[in-house]
Amino acid sequence: MPRLSKALTLAMLPLSLLAFACDSADPSLSDGNDGSNDGDGSDGSGAGTGTGAGSSEGGGSGTETVDPALAARVIDYNEALRTAALKLTRRLPTLEQINKVRDADDPEAAYAEELDAMLASPAFNGRMVKLWRDIMRMGGDGLDSAPAFAAKLMAEQRPFTELFTATSGNCPTFDADAGTFADGDCASNAPVQAGVLTDPAVQRQFYGNMAFRRVRWVQETFYCSKMPAEVVDQPTQVDGKDYTSPWDFQTVSTTPIDFQDTQSVVCANCHTTINHVAPLFANFDENGMWQNSIQVKTPIAPDPVTTEMSHWLRDGETLAWHNGRTVTDLASLGQVLAEDPAISECMVARMWNFALSKEDIVTDLATVPFGVVQPHIDEFDNNGQDLKAVLRGIFLSEDFVSF
Ligand code: HEC
Repeated sequence: MPRLSKALTLAMLPLSLLAFACDSADPSLSDGNDGSNDGDGSDGSGAGTGTGAGSSEGGGSGTETVDPALAARVIDYNEALRTAALKLTRRLPTLEQINKVRDADDPEAAYAEELDAMLASPAFNGRMVKLWRDIMRMGGDGLDSAPAFAAKLMAEQRPFTELFTATSGNCPTFDADAGTFADGDCASNAPVQAGVLTDPAVQRQFYGNMAFRRVRWVQETFYCSKMPAEVVDQPTQVDGKDYTSPWDFQTVSTTPIDFQDTQSVVCANCHTTINHVAPLFANFDENGMWQNSIQVKTPIAPDPVTTEMSHWLRDGETLAWHNGRTVTDLASLGQVLAEDPAISECMVARMWNFALSKEDIVTDLATVPFGVVQPHIDEFDNNGQDLKAVLRGIFLSEDFVSF
């Protein structure tokens, strides 16, 4: 390779990359080919309880003040029934259901009974597939296996962490008319199976240079936050800029792409995290199939080259999901994710946002104050990670039934 072109490449890369790859407003993860994101406005219309939440957005501090409008709300099980029916089954309650809750001696119990019937209905399964399509930003066109797996785990009230650890049955199908699931294994040829992490449809949908987009998908979908994923309390200075990652700055590669560059932004703030996990996903090709060699490219001019281990990290680095949590393959990554409390919190917060008609926790910054979801996180941790039971608890919570 002529030296000149390489020098040119290095000089140009950061800016060109920043223009499209690392922009936090990058829609590449959110546009997908996901027609299913649309048309949802109709069914959440009953939920006025989202108002006033502005005060609590922006990161879960414990200082939010109680909005007088919220404090003035009263419990209304009939309104709750209406809203729950629309969300969970996409239908209005029948007159019979309405009368039952209205005339009951114990309206709460009557509402809970109707809630349980809805949660057990095939229509609920369809709603959960739709929800997970939106959360995972994939669906339709052969891309339903991962959303279907998440919905199936909920329907069957299995430990939700099987999403990352299941070694079989991780690519089910969903019959939308019947509202039922059928078992299916993922056939990516990966040497290990680890829930959605080895789903070929996921790998196909999020194929990209150096496998970074696949890492981003895991981070945003299940961790509920964008990169940088790891931020220390006390940044150190590198070239006069704040270095905020807990990793040793020098762990990331400097060639052919300089991840230690600090000219425009400090690449390593994000890429220490990303580069330590991306190699695990690199053998999936653009069709999502596992091959015995690296299938992703390193974007250098004039032509991208097949990525090598040394493009991500300096020699001798071990892979890890965030600093200190060493992983060796996708199965061990799945295990680490399954044990990560931040993921439990994220999954529960996503259920909360669904129930209360909030937007996406990552792309729309619809964050949930920690105190509000804490009881539901505790339930998740203590009920064998049964996310459907957690959702039931949220639909019974005072926040949901007050209007
Ligand atoms: C705020 C976090 C962050 C910073 C800072 C950052 N990146 Fe990234 N970078 C990402 C994420 C996330 C992706 C994956 C984007 C996607 O494809 O969805 C990415 C993708 C890339 C890619 C692959 C782009 C492609 O063609 O698909 C390269 C190369 C890259 N970054 C290099 C750099 C360099 C060099 C710097 C410093 C100049 C940098 N990044 C700074 C987060 C960051």
